[in-house]
Amino acid sequence: MSQPSAPFFIATVEPDGLQCDAWPEQPLLQSLEGGGIDWPSSCRNGTCRTCLGQLVQGAVRYEIEWPGLTAEEKAEGCVLPCVAYPVSDVVLQSSAI
Ligand code: FES
Repeated sequence: MSQPSAPFFIATVEPDGLQCDAWPEQPLLQSLEGGGIDWPSSCRNGTCRTCLGQLVQGAVRYEIEWPGLTAEEKAEGCVLPCVAYPVSDVVLQSSAI
């Protein structure tokens, strides 16, 4: 596998198409906020589901055993950005629309 040329990925938020740097070592939510993108959040530890979004493209990993998602939701591409770390460029869809 080739190394990425940049130390971070790009996160795109639909439907607005806003983009920010997505650092692999920090939760996506932090990267979104760091990029000035408004994203709903509350508990920030993967239980309340306030930040729930849809992963349209790309992949994420979790550092906690079982984020507040069912296996089905995960299979459908639901993500909790407060505890999801990007492993590629990602496109997220806000579930608030
Ligand atoms: S902010 Fe609560 S699950 Fe993400």
